[in-house]
Amino acid sequence: MRVHAVVAAAGRGERFGGDKLRAPLGGRRVVDYALRPLALARPAVVGAVLVVPPGTAGQWRPVRPPDLSCREVAGGATRAESVARGLETLDAADGDWVLVHDAARPLTWSADLARLLREADREDGGLLALPLADTVKRAAGDRAAGTMDRAGLWRAQTPQLFPLAALRQALARARAAGEEPTDEAMAMEACGHRPRLIEGSPDNFKLTRPADLARAERVLREDPDRAYWARL
Ligand code: CTP
Ligand code: MG
Repeated sequence: MRVHAVVAAAGRGERFGGDKLRAPLGGRRVVDYALRPLALARPAVVGAVLVVPPGTAGQWRPVRPPDLSCREVAGGATRAESVARGLETLDAADGDWVLVHDAARPLTWSADLARLLREADREDGGLLALPLADTVKRAAGDRAAGTMDRAGLWRAQTPQLFPLAALRQALARARAAGEEPTDEAMAMEACGHRPRLIEGSPDNFKLTRPADLARAERVLREDPDRAYWARL
């Protein structure tokens, strides 16, 4: 399996209130953590494209082993556009795969990524996700107006892994239909694909608000042998 990684890092961090991807975490930057498991997944992962805000390509210099190639390309106004830009620049062959990942997820365990690579459906791909644990309410204003059946509901994470040709086709269809998929699996589903849901870890949360950085620091601190970076 030959896998190219596209890491979306072109957001503005509005809810965070600043540059969350270059924020310090355990002595490194958030973005370095996001790239770490990809580097450890060589040789299946052959290289990464870091999609960064326009005007900043070449300025990110992620920490990585020297033998993982990592190019920086300019992103777009939405996450979907940024991912599309990354996909366009891939020098890929027929039959290659693509792993799409949010740079804002610094604590993806290598073991979960390895399971994704192993267990993704060979045609429909797969994604890390978490089954919903809470009871889910439908709101009418600020009132609970109904309770959904949470059985069979999952929260999607990244990384998500797909055959490159199928994902390109699915994203092209979404674009032509004027749709703005919030993750790649959504575009695949709309084409009839059924990506495999692979249970991940709650540690793999997306850094969205400032409190999430404190949470990531807490996870690192509670790591008993303080070797999270090495084991990621
Ligand atoms: N992203 C991107 N291009 C965009 C928007 C988002 O590459 N135009 C990336 C972000 O950098 C992030 C991931 O997509 O790694 C998930 O997005 P999100 O958590 O929403 O980050 P931001 O868009 O930066 O945050 P906000 O929505 O609060 O501005
Ligand atoms: Mg956003």
